[in-house]
Amino acid sequence: MKERILALQTEAEREIAAISTLKALEEARVKYLGKKGAVTELLKTLGQAPPAEKPALGKSCNDLKNLLSNLLDTRQGALEESAPAELPKGFDPTLPGRTLPVGKDHPLTAVMDRMVEIFRDFGFDVASGPDVENDYYNFQALNFPPDHPARDAQDTFFLPDGSLLRTHTSPVQVRVMEKGKPPFKFVVPGRVYRNEAVDATHHHIFHQVEGFLVDEGVTFAHLKGVLDAFVKKFYGPEITTRFRPSFFPFTEPSAEMDISCLFCGGKGCRICKQSGWVETLGCGMIHPNVLKNCHVDPEKYTGFAFGMGVERIAMFKYRVDDIRLFYQNDLRFLRQF
Ligand code: DAH
Repeated sequence: MKERILALQTEAEREIAAISTLKALEEARVKYLGKKGAVTELLKTLGQAPPAEKPALGKSCNDLKNLLSNLLDTRQGALEESAPAELPKGFDPTLPGRTLPVGKDHPLTAVMDRMVEIFRDFGFDVASGPDVENDYYNFQALNFPPDHPARDAQDTFFLPDGSLLRTHTSPVQVRVMEKGKPPFKFVVPGRVYRNEAVDATHHHIFHQVEGFLVDEGVTFAHLKGVLDAFVKKFYGPEITTRFRPSFFPFTEPSAEMDISCLFCGGKGCRICKQSGWVETLGCGMIHPNVLKNCHVDPEKYTGFAFGMGVERIAMFKYRVDDIRLFYQNDLRFLRQF
C-alpha cells in the first residue's frame, strides 16, 4: 500500500503541473479527491492493512490528500490569474466606455462649503438655526431698537402668525450662545430672506456665512487677523484687506471689510469702480447688550462677529454679473462651474 501511495503522488503531481485549463483542473480534482476518486478509494482499502501499519498508512493517505488539495488550489490560482476573462460575444474592449452623467455642487453650495471648510481649519464649529424666526431672535436679542427701519415690512417677510423669515444669519449667534457657555467659536452658513425687488444685484433669497468667536480677552485685532487669514486662503495670498467704520446694532464698534480688487490688484478698474477695493462683509465686536441677552457676562467675555453674503462673493470670484442666474437652474450656466 505504501508503494501505491507513492505512485499515486508522483502521478498526480505530474498531471496537476501540466494542467492548462480550469476545466481540466476540475476533472483532476474529481479524479483524485472526488467521492470515487483515487485517494478516496485508497482510504477505503485501509481496513485490509495489517493493524500495526494502519496508523502510519492512514497518516500517509491523509498527507497525500492535503498535498493534492493544496497543489490543485495553487494551480487554480495561477490559471485564474493568467487566463483572460472570457468576453461575451460582440463585446469590443477597444471601444471607449460610456460616461455616466455625473452631478456636481451648485456654485453657491461649492463657495459656501469652501468658506466653511476654511473656518473649520481655523478651529470653528458649524451651527445652524431655523429659516422661520421670530422677532426676538432676528431683531430684539440682537439689540435692534423697536423702531429700527429693518423691521419695516419693506425688508422683512412676515408670516401670518407673526413669525418671520430670517433676514440674516445673526440670530443663530443668540440661539447658540444662550444654550451654552463661552468660549464660542462658530460659523453659520444659511439662507436668508428679504422683501426686496429682484434685480441683477438683489434677490429676495440669498445666503450668508456668519461667524462669531467669544472668549476672554478677544479683541478687534483677533477679528482682523482671522478675517485677513480667511481672505488669503479663499482668494490667494496677494489679497489685502482694509476695515472701514460702519454700524450694526449688534456690534460695537462695527466695521465693513473691503478686499483689494481681484481683477486689477488694487489699481482701479470697472469692477471695483476705480476704487481698487471691493466690499465683502460686515463685522465688529459683539455688543455687550447682545452678550447680556445670551447670559454671557460682558465684563468677563468679549467677542467678534462677522457676516458675509455668499452670492456677492461667488459673483466676484466667478465674474457672474447677474445674481438671478444662480436661481434659474439653467444647465448651460451651471455646467460652467
Ligand atoms: N447681519 C448683517 C447683515 O445681514 C451682517 C453682519 C454684520 C453680521 C456684522 C455680523 C456682524 O455678525 O458682526 O447685513
